[in-house]
Amino acid sequence: MNSYLRPAAAALIAATLFAPAASAGPREAIIAALQAEAGGAAFSATNGQAFYAANQAGGKPDTPSCTTCHGKDPRQTGQTRVGKVIDPMAVSVAPDRFTDPEKVAKWFGRNCNSVLGRDCTVTEKGDFIAYLTGL
Ligand code: HEC
Repeated sequence: MNSYLRPAAAALIAATLFAPAASAGPREAIIAALQAEAGGAAFSATNGQAFYAANQAGGKPDTPSCTTCHGKDPRQTGQTRVGKVIDPMAVSVAPDRFTDPEKVAKWFGRNCNSVLGRDCTVTEKGDFIAYLTGL
């Protein structure tokens, strides 16, 4: 009987200890960090949608928009320049999106510079995630 109880007890203790972390998972932590960096400003899914779809100037000519690789509908798969499939960006269909801070930082760095020729601002990042999380 103990062997049945022990994992349950451990899970209960873990749930109790990590309750705040569980309600605020890795994605929420990433958003909270961006929000802190933005001085507490709320992010806008509407602005994020516009940013996602916009044709930008300043980046590489063959990657004018986030949609170039991620596709017009973020609930669908995208495609790299060499035709490799990219999983959808919408959290509703790809729940592991924006859960790894290093991955998020790496790809914002790489893709913003390809598309805009500069880093994205913290507001652009927050709005982008707000859009794709709420979709
Ligand atoms: C040249 C193709 C390309 C373009 C253009 C592009 N991306 Fe990406 N993006 C990728 C690839 C490839 C990945 C990594 C594969 C994956 O996550 O499925 C990725 C992943 C990401 C991630 C990581 C998501 C996660 O799972 O945490 C973010 C954030 C991101 N892109 C933001 C952007 C933004 C913002 C733009 C527009 C300014 C953009 N991307 C434009 C190819 C692109």
